[in-house]
Amino acid sequence: MTQLTFATESNPSPVSAADREAILADPGFGNHFTDHMVSVVWRKDSGWGDARVHPFGPIQISPAAAVLHYAQEVFEGMKAYRHEDGSVWTFRPDKNAARMARSCSRLALPELPEADFVESLRQIVTTDKAWVPAYGTGETSLYLRPFMFASESFLGVRPAHEVTYSVIASPAGAYFSGGLKPITLWVSQHFARAGQGGTGAAKTGGNYASSLAGQLEGIAQGCDQAVFLDSATQTYIEELGGMNLFFVMKDGRLRTPELTGSILEGVTRDSILELAKDLDLQPEEGRIALQEWKDGVASGEITEVFACGTAAVITPVGELRWEGGSVPSTAGEGGGEVTKRIRERLLDIQYGRAEDTRGWMT
Ligand code: COI
Repeated sequence: MTQLTFATESNPSPVSAADREAILADPGFGNHFTDHMVSVVWRKDSGWGDARVHPFGPIQISPAAAVLHYAQEVFEGMKAYRHEDGSVWTFRPDKNAARMARSCSRLALPELPEADFVESLRQIVTTDKAWVPAYGTGETSLYLRPFMFASESFLGVRPAHEVTYSVIASPAGAYFSGGLKPITLWVSQHFARAGQGGTGAAKTGGNYASSLAGQLEGIAQGCDQAVFLDSATQTYIEELGGMNLFFVMKDGRLRTPELTGSILEGVTRDSILELAKDLDLQPEEGRIALQEWKDGVASGEITEVFACGTAAVITPVGELRWEGGSVPSTAGEGGGEVTKRIRERLLDIQYGRAEDTRGWMT
Protein backbone atom coordinates (compact mmCIF):
# COMPACT_ATOMS: atom_id res chain seq x y z
CA MET A 1 0.00 0.00 0.00
CA THR A 2 1.23 3.44 -0.84
CA GLN A 3 2.15 5.58 2.15
CA LEU A 4 2.56 8.88 0.35
CA THR A 5 -0.26 11.23 -0.56
CA PHE A 6 0.54 13.40 -3.56
CA ALA A 7 -0.58 17.03 -3.70
CA THR A 8 -1.14 18.32 -7.24
CA GLU A 9 -0.24 21.76 -8.55
CA SER A 10 -1.28 22.05 -12.19
CA ASN A 11 0.95 23.74 -14.72
CA PRO A 12 -0.63 27.16 -15.42
CA SER A 13 1.02 27.37 -18.85
CA PRO A 14 1.20 23.87 -20.34
CA VAL A 15 2.50 23.23 -23.83
CA SER A 16 -0.34 23.95 -26.29
CA ALA A 17 -2.17 20.96 -27.75
CA ALA A 18 -0.89 21.87 -31.22
CA ASP A 19 2.74 22.06 -30.08
CA ARG A 20 2.37 18.83 -28.12
CA GLU A 21 0.98 17.00 -31.16
CA ALA A 22 3.87 18.32 -33.26
CA ILE A 23 6.34 16.96 -30.68
CA LEU A 24 4.54 13.61 -30.48
CA ALA A 25 4.72 13.28 -34.28
CA ASP A 26 8.53 13.13 -34.08
CA PRO A 27 9.74 13.00 -30.47
CA GLY A 28 13.25 11.59 -30.93
CA PHE A 29 14.75 10.54 -27.60
CA GLY A 30 15.25 12.70 -24.52
CA ASN A 31 14.47 16.02 -26.18
CA HIS A 32 11.06 17.00 -24.85
CA PHE A 33 9.40 16.86 -21.45
CA THR A 34 5.82 16.79 -20.29
CA ASP A 35 4.04 19.57 -18.38
CA HIS A 36 4.52 18.09 -14.92
CA MET A 37 6.94 16.21 -12.72
CA VAL A 38 6.85 14.46 -9.38
CA SER A 39 8.96 15.36 -6.35
CA VAL A 40 9.23 13.75 -2.93
CA VAL A 41 11.70 14.75 -0.22
CA TRP A 42 13.36 12.51 2.37
CA ARG A 43 14.77 13.94 5.56
CA LYS A 44 16.86 11.91 7.95
CA ASP A 45 14.70 12.86 10.93
CA SER A 46 11.25 12.53 9.33
CA GLY A 47 11.55 10.13 6.37
CA TRP A 48 9.68 10.57 3.06
CA GLY A 49 7.22 13.45 2.72
CA ASP A 50 6.21 16.54 0.69
CA ALA A 51 5.02 14.35 -2.21
CA ARG A 52 3.91 16.60 -5.07
CA VAL A 53 2.99 16.61 -8.71
CA HIS A 54 3.98 20.05 -9.93
CA PRO A 55 4.90 21.95 -13.11
CA PHE A 56 8.00 20.67 -14.92
CA GLY A 57 10.78 23.18 -14.45
CA PRO A 58 14.22 23.93 -13.01
CA ILE A 59 15.04 22.43 -9.63
CA GLN A 60 16.43 24.87 -7.07
CA ILE A 61 19.32 23.36 -5.16
CA SER A 62 22.22 24.85 -3.27
CA PRO A 63 25.57 24.99 -5.09
CA ALA A 64 26.74 23.00 -2.06
CA ALA A 65 24.20 20.20 -2.68
CA ALA A 66 26.09 16.96 -2.09
CA VAL A 67 25.08 15.43 -5.43
CA LEU A 68 27.02 18.11 -7.32
CA HIS A 69 30.22 17.22 -5.49
CA TYR A 70 30.05 13.55 -4.54
CA ALA A 71 27.61 12.16 -7.15
CA GLN A 72 25.30 10.53 -4.61
CA GLU A 73 22.46 9.79 -7.03
CA VAL A 74 20.62 6.95 -8.75
CA PHE A 75 18.04 6.75 -11.54
CA GLU A 76 15.75 4.41 -13.43
CA GLY A 77 14.49 4.20 -17.00
CA MET A 78 11.14 2.80 -18.04
CA LYS A 79 8.37 3.40 -20.53
CA ALA A 80 4.58 3.85 -20.58
CA TYR A 81 2.93 2.35 -23.67
CA ARG A 82 -0.47 3.18 -25.12
CA HIS A 83 -2.54 0.17 -26.15
CA GLU A 84 -5.06 0.07 -28.95
CA ASP A 85 -8.00 0.74 -26.59
CA GLY A 86 -6.32 3.95 -25.37
CA SER A 87 -5.25 2.55 -21.99
CA VAL A 88 -1.69 3.19 -20.79
CA TRP A 89 0.61 0.56 -19.32
CA THR A 90 4.05 0.29 -17.77
CA PHE A 91 6.28 -2.78 -18.12
CA ARG A 92 7.47 -4.60 -15.00
CA PRO A 93 7.60 -1.53 -12.72
CA ASP A 94 8.25 -3.83 -9.74
CA LYS A 95 11.59 -4.76 -11.34
CA ASN A 96 12.60 -1.11 -11.63
CA ALA A 97 11.48 -0.43 -8.05
CA ALA A 98 13.57 -3.34 -6.78
CA ARG A 99 16.61 -2.29 -8.81
CA MET A 100 16.30 1.28 -7.60
CA ALA A 101 16.23 -0.02 -4.03
CA ARG A 102 19.43 -2.00 -4.70
CA SER A 103 21.05 1.06 -6.32
CA CYS A 104 20.02 3.16 -3.31
CA SER A 105 21.55 0.67 -0.95
CA ARG A 106 24.87 0.81 -2.86
CA LEU A 107 24.87 4.62 -2.98
CA ALA A 108 23.82 4.98 0.68
CA LEU A 109 20.54 6.62 -0.30
CA PRO A 110 17.21 5.93 1.43
CA GLU A 111 14.96 3.36 -0.25
CA LEU A 112 11.57 4.43 -1.57
CA PRO A 113 9.00 1.67 -0.90
CA GLU A 114 7.87 -0.15 -4.07
CA ALA A 115 4.24 0.94 -3.65
CA ASP A 116 5.28 4.61 -3.48
CA PHE A 117 7.58 4.20 -6.48
CA VAL A 118 4.75 2.69 -8.55
CA GLU A 119 2.32 5.33 -7.29
CA SER A 120 4.72 8.09 -8.35
CA LEU A 121 4.67 6.65 -11.88
CA ARG A 122 0.90 6.43 -11.82
CA GLN A 123 0.71 10.09 -10.75
CA ILE A 124 2.88 11.42 -13.57
CA VAL A 125 1.36 9.18 -16.24
CA THR A 126 -2.21 10.02 -15.18
CA THR A 127 -1.50 13.75 -15.00
CA ASP A 128 0.30 13.86 -18.35
CA LYS A 129 -1.59 11.07 -20.12
CA ALA A 130 -2.06 13.26 -23.19
CA TRP A 131 1.71 13.01 -23.69
CA VAL A 132 1.67 9.25 -24.18
CA PRO A 133 1.98 8.80 -27.95
CA ALA A 134 -0.98 7.19 -29.75
CA TYR A 135 -1.05 3.45 -30.40
CA GLY A 136 0.27 2.50 -33.80
CA THR A 137 2.65 5.44 -34.19
CA GLY A 138 5.73 3.27 -34.53
CA GLU A 139 7.84 2.48 -31.54
CA THR A 140 6.78 5.49 -29.51
CA SER A 141 6.15 5.64 -25.78
CA LEU A 142 6.39 7.96 -22.80
CA TYR A 143 9.84 7.43 -21.31
CA LEU A 144 9.79 7.76 -17.52
CA ARG A 145 12.89 8.80 -15.66
CA PRO A 146 12.68 8.41 -11.87
CA PHE A 147 15.80 9.70 -10.11
CA MET A 148 17.01 10.37 -6.60
CA PHE A 149 19.80 12.67 -5.48
CA ALA A 150 21.50 14.08 -2.39
CA SER A 151 19.94 17.55 -2.14
CA GLU A 152 21.39 18.45 1.25
CA SER A 153 23.62 21.52 1.28
CA PHE A 154 26.72 20.10 2.99
CA LEU A 155 30.30 19.54 1.88
CA GLY A 156 31.34 16.87 4.37
CA VAL A 157 31.63 13.40 2.84
CA ARG A 158 28.86 11.29 4.34
CA PRO A 159 25.41 10.08 3.20
CA ALA A 160 23.16 13.11 2.80
CA HIS A 161 20.53 13.93 5.41
CA GLU A 162 18.21 15.37 2.76
CA VAL A 163 17.45 13.56 -0.47
CA THR A 164 15.05 14.38 -3.30
CA TYR A 165 13.25 11.83 -5.48
CA SER A 166 11.70 13.01 -8.73
CA VAL A 167 10.11 11.61 -11.85
CA ILE A 168 10.16 13.36 -15.18
CA ALA A 169 8.56 12.07 -18.39
CA SER A 170 9.65 12.44 -21.98
CA PRO A 171 7.82 11.33 -25.13
CA ALA A 172 10.16 9.00 -26.96
CA GLY A 173 10.72 7.52 -30.38
CA ALA A 174 13.68 5.34 -31.34
CA TYR A 175 16.85 5.79 -29.24
CA PHE A 176 19.05 5.45 -32.31
CA SER A 177 18.04 7.79 -35.09
CA GLY A 178 19.05 5.29 -37.79
CA GLY A 179 16.12 3.00 -36.86
CA LEU A 180 16.88 -0.72 -36.96
CA LYS A 181 20.31 -0.20 -38.51
CA PRO A 182 22.99 -2.36 -36.87
CA ILE A 183 25.33 -0.41 -34.59
CA THR A 184 29.10 -0.67 -34.86
CA LEU A 185 30.90 -1.24 -31.56
CA TRP A 186 34.33 -0.20 -30.30
CA VAL A 187 36.14 -2.26 -27.66
CA SER A 188 37.18 0.15 -24.92
CA GLN A 189 40.60 -1.06 -23.80
CA HIS A 190 41.93 2.11 -22.16
CA PHE A 191 38.86 2.97 -20.15
CA ALA A 192 36.93 0.66 -17.82
CA ARG A 193 33.33 1.38 -16.91
CA ALA A 194 33.26 -0.38 -13.54
CA GLY A 195 35.32 -2.73 -11.39
CA GLN A 196 34.72 -5.43 -8.79
CA GLY A 197 33.25 -3.99 -5.62
CA GLY A 198 32.44 -0.75 -7.44
CA THR A 199 29.08 0.64 -8.49
CA GLY A 200 28.75 -1.10 -11.88
CA ALA A 201 25.56 -2.97 -10.97
CA ALA A 202 23.88 0.18 -9.67
CA LYS A 203 22.02 2.54 -11.96
CA THR A 204 23.98 5.61 -10.94
CA GLY A 205 25.17 8.51 -13.03
CA GLY A 206 28.85 7.87 -12.33
CA ASN A 207 28.79 4.65 -14.37
CA TYR A 208 27.45 6.54 -17.36
CA ALA A 209 29.97 9.37 -16.89
CA SER A 210 32.82 6.86 -16.79
CA SER A 211 31.61 5.26 -20.01
CA LEU A 212 31.81 8.49 -22.02
CA ALA A 213 35.57 8.61 -22.66
CA GLY A 214 35.42 5.09 -24.13
CA GLN A 215 32.43 6.07 -26.19
CA LEU A 216 34.20 9.17 -27.50
CA GLU A 217 37.19 7.06 -28.46
CA GLY A 218 34.82 4.73 -30.32
CA ILE A 219 33.09 7.58 -32.11
CA ALA A 220 36.49 8.91 -33.22
CA GLN A 221 37.02 5.47 -34.79
CA GLY A 222 33.69 5.65 -36.64
CA CYS A 223 31.78 3.45 -34.17
CA ASP A 224 28.41 4.10 -32.52
CA GLN A 225 28.97 2.74 -29.02
CA ALA A 226 31.74 1.21 -26.88
CA VAL A 227 31.85 -2.27 -25.33
CA PHE A 228 33.42 -2.54 -21.90
CA LEU A 229 35.41 -5.55 -20.75
CA ASP A 230 36.01 -6.79 -17.21
CA SER A 231 38.42 -4.30 -15.69
CA ALA A 232 40.60 -6.89 -13.94
CA THR A 233 41.67 -8.96 -16.94
CA GLN A 234 40.28 -7.12 -20.00
CA THR A 235 39.19 -10.55 -21.23
CA TYR A 236 35.46 -10.89 -20.74
CA ILE A 237 32.67 -8.88 -22.30
CA GLU A 238 30.54 -6.91 -19.85
CA GLU A 239 28.15 -4.38 -21.40
CA LEU A 240 27.88 -1.22 -23.48
CA GLY A 241 27.41 1.30 -20.70
CA GLY A 242 23.75 1.89 -21.55
CA MET A 243 22.82 -1.56 -22.87
CA ASN A 244 23.41 -5.28 -22.25
CA LEU A 245 24.61 -7.67 -24.96
CA PHE A 246 23.27 -10.98 -26.33
CA PHE A 247 24.73 -13.58 -28.71
CA VAL A 248 22.56 -15.84 -30.83
CA MET A 249 24.31 -19.18 -31.35
CA LYS A 250 23.88 -21.55 -34.27
CA ASP A 251 22.95 -24.38 -31.85
CA GLY A 252 19.95 -22.46 -30.46
CA ARG A 253 21.58 -20.99 -27.37
CA LEU A 254 21.02 -17.36 -26.51
CA ARG A 255 24.04 -16.25 -24.51
CA THR A 256 24.57 -13.14 -22.40
CA PRO A 257 27.34 -12.14 -19.96
CA GLU A 258 26.51 -13.27 -16.44
CA LEU A 259 25.91 -10.71 -13.71
CA THR A 260 29.31 -10.27 -12.12
CA GLY A 261 28.48 -7.34 -9.87
CA SER A 262 29.89 -4.86 -12.34
CA ILE A 263 27.15 -5.28 -14.99
CA LEU A 264 23.80 -3.51 -14.86
CA GLU A 265 20.96 -5.95 -14.21
CA GLY A 266 18.84 -4.85 -17.16
CA VAL A 267 15.07 -5.35 -17.01
CA THR A 268 15.06 -5.90 -20.77
CA ARG A 269 17.95 -8.37 -20.36
CA ASP A 270 16.00 -10.31 -17.75
CA SER A 271 12.83 -10.27 -19.89
CA ILE A 272 14.69 -11.58 -22.95
CA LEU A 273 16.10 -14.47 -20.92
CA GLU A 274 12.49 -15.34 -20.00
CA LEU A 275 11.05 -14.84 -23.49
CA ALA A 276 13.79 -16.96 -25.07
CA LYS A 277 11.99 -20.04 -23.80
CA ASP A 278 8.81 -19.07 -25.73
CA LEU A 279 10.92 -18.89 -28.88
CA ASP A 280 12.62 -22.27 -28.50
CA LEU A 281 15.95 -20.72 -27.60
CA GLN A 282 18.08 -21.87 -24.68
CA PRO A 283 19.03 -18.88 -22.55
CA GLU A 284 22.49 -19.09 -21.05
CA GLU A 285 24.28 -16.69 -18.72
CA GLY A 286 28.03 -17.08 -18.40
CA ARG A 287 31.39 -15.47 -18.95
CA ILE A 288 31.98 -14.65 -22.60
CA ALA A 289 35.50 -13.78 -23.68
CA LEU A 290 36.18 -11.25 -26.41
CA GLN A 291 38.14 -14.04 -28.12
CA GLU A 292 34.94 -16.15 -28.29
CA TRP A 293 33.25 -13.33 -30.22
CA LYS A 294 36.11 -13.32 -32.75
CA ASP A 295 36.23 -17.10 -33.05
CA GLY A 296 32.44 -17.56 -32.98
CA VAL A 297 31.82 -15.23 -35.89
CA ALA A 298 34.73 -16.72 -37.86
CA SER A 299 33.44 -20.28 -37.37
CA GLY A 300 29.78 -19.41 -37.90
CA GLU A 301 28.88 -20.48 -34.36
CA ILE A 302 27.69 -16.95 -33.52
CA THR A 303 24.96 -16.04 -35.97
CA GLU A 304 23.69 -12.75 -34.49
CA VAL A 305 24.64 -10.22 -31.83
CA PHE A 306 22.27 -7.65 -30.36
CA ALA A 307 22.18 -5.02 -27.63
CA CYS A 308 19.20 -4.34 -25.38
CA GLY A 309 17.89 -1.82 -22.89
CA THR A 310 14.70 0.02 -22.04
CA ALA A 311 15.55 3.02 -24.18
CA ALA A 312 17.09 1.14 -27.10
CA VAL A 313 14.77 -1.93 -26.88
CA ILE A 314 16.68 -4.44 -29.03
CA THR A 315 19.25 -3.13 -31.45
CA PRO A 316 21.25 -5.32 -33.84
CA VAL A 317 25.01 -5.17 -33.46
CA GLY A 318 27.12 -5.12 -36.60
CA GLU A 319 30.89 -4.88 -36.79
CA LEU A 320 33.13 -4.92 -33.71
CA ARG A 321 36.39 -2.95 -33.84
CA TRP A 322 39.37 -2.42 -31.59
CA GLU A 323 42.88 -1.06 -31.95
CA GLY A 324 44.40 -3.23 -34.64
CA GLY A 325 41.49 -5.56 -35.36
CA SER A 326 37.83 -6.14 -36.08
CA VAL A 327 35.13 -8.79 -36.27
CA PRO A 328 32.80 -8.55 -39.24
CA SER A 329 29.07 -7.98 -38.89
CA THR A 330 26.62 -10.88 -38.91
CA ALA A 331 23.64 -8.52 -38.90
CA GLY A 332 22.96 -7.80 -42.56
CA GLU A 333 20.99 -4.61 -43.29
CA GLY A 334 18.38 -4.63 -40.54
CA GLY A 335 19.50 -7.30 -38.05
CA GLY A 336 19.18 -11.07 -37.99
CA GLU A 337 15.96 -13.08 -37.95
CA VAL A 338 16.23 -14.20 -34.31
CA THR A 339 16.94 -10.64 -33.18
CA LYS A 340 13.84 -9.49 -35.03
CA ARG A 341 11.68 -12.28 -33.57
CA ILE A 342 12.68 -11.51 -29.99
CA ARG A 343 12.16 -7.82 -30.59
CA GLU A 344 8.67 -8.36 -32.01
CA ARG A 345 7.72 -10.67 -29.16
CA LEU A 346 8.78 -8.12 -26.55
CA LEU A 347 7.11 -5.18 -28.31
CA ASP A 348 3.91 -7.19 -28.85
CA ILE A 349 3.63 -7.70 -25.08
CA GLN A 350 4.50 -4.09 -24.31
CA TYR A 351 1.96 -2.70 -26.80
CA GLY A 352 -0.75 -5.18 -25.79
CA ARG A 353 -0.73 -7.11 -29.09
CA ALA A 354 0.20 -10.39 -27.38
CA GLU A 355 -1.27 -11.93 -24.25
CA ASP A 356 0.63 -10.90 -21.14
CA THR A 357 0.82 -14.39 -19.64
CA ARG A 358 3.42 -13.39 -17.05
CA GLY A 359 1.56 -10.42 -15.64
CA TRP A 360 4.33 -8.03 -16.66
CA MET A 361 2.11 -5.08 -17.57
CA THR A 362 0.73 -2.68 -14.94
C1 COI B 1 17.50 2.97 -20.40
O1 COI B 1 17.62 2.14 -21.28
O2 COI B 1 16.40 3.28 -19.94
C2 COI B 1 18.63 3.64 -19.81
O3 COI B 1 18.54 4.09 -18.71
C3 COI B 1 19.86 3.81 -20.61
C4 COI B 1 20.12 5.24 -20.90
C5 COI B 1 21.50 5.31 -21.40
C6 COI B 1 19.17 5.85 -21.86
